[in-house]
Amino acid sequence: MNFTLGPGRTIFEPMSTNTLRLGVNIDHVATIRNARGGQHPDPVRAAEIAAKAGADGITAHLREDRRHISDTDIDRLMDTLELPLNLEMAATEEMLEIALKHKPHACCLVPERREELTTEGGLDAAAQHNQLAPYVSELVDAKIRVSLFVNPDRVQLAVAKAMGAQVVELHTGSYCDALNDGDAEKAAGELARLQQAAREGHEMGLEMHAGHGITFDGVGAIAAIPELVELNIGHFLIGEAIFGGLDSTIRRMRSMMDQARASSKTAIA
Ligand code: PXP
Repeated sequence: MNFTLGPGRTIFEPMSTNTLRLGVNIDHVATIRNARGGQHPDPVRAAEIAAKAGADGITAHLREDRRHISDTDIDRLMDTLELPLNLEMAATEEMLEIALKHKPHACCLVPERREELTTEGGLDAAAQHNQLAPYVSELVDAKIRVSLFVNPDRVQLAVAKAMGAQVVELHTGSYCDALNDGDAEKAAGELARLQQAAREGHEMGLEMHAGHGITFDGVGAIAAIPELVELNIGHFLIGEAIFGGLDSTIRRMRSMMDQARASSKTAIA
């Protein structure tokens, strides 16, 4: 797949220093489909709607237990999708084989536990360095952009960089949870951690992404962090689409991201 738009630029690079890409995570369209075991609703159709509504990429997490996205979904996304696919996966031999077969635009390595409801925290890249490093190398060698999903912590960023990952995605769950709980003091602290980690990661030369738990309430402050170039958002968009429709929910999120970014005072070099 080639997303080249002009000399040396790809669709998945920021169009200017102040733009922020939206990756729409379609996992939970598959969750609803799987509740009945048929074909409907189809996550690939959701991806097509997301593309028309202003998404810059599609994200899908192929879990070991296949609780939502299936192997067939990944096959079909790779065959039909016009946007870059960001494949979220655990660092396992099975997932590596699938990634190398498909060669998606990007792979985001995430921690995975069967008993968890969602990806509850970031990878401990420092503690798992020896386990993760060979996966990062194999994916990078296959020209797949590699991202590590980590908590906003300088040590994790430094280890990700040392391993050769080009991208880090910051886990925004603690900030979003504090906001939902109405705990303003905790939310302010978590936001400060995200801001600092985004700055530090950018200074290390990492491309900075963020995601998890983002809603209309949380997106403004996150989108205003100037070093971030991509947000990945799923559960809220799919849930809210029940009330507002997928197209208009994505358009609204896209426009809130753009407004927050436009009014954020600092532009980065
Ligand atoms: N980014 C990563 C790495 C994730 O694992 C997830 C959840 O699958 C998301 C973003 C999206 O989180 P949410 O569905 O809460 O928006």
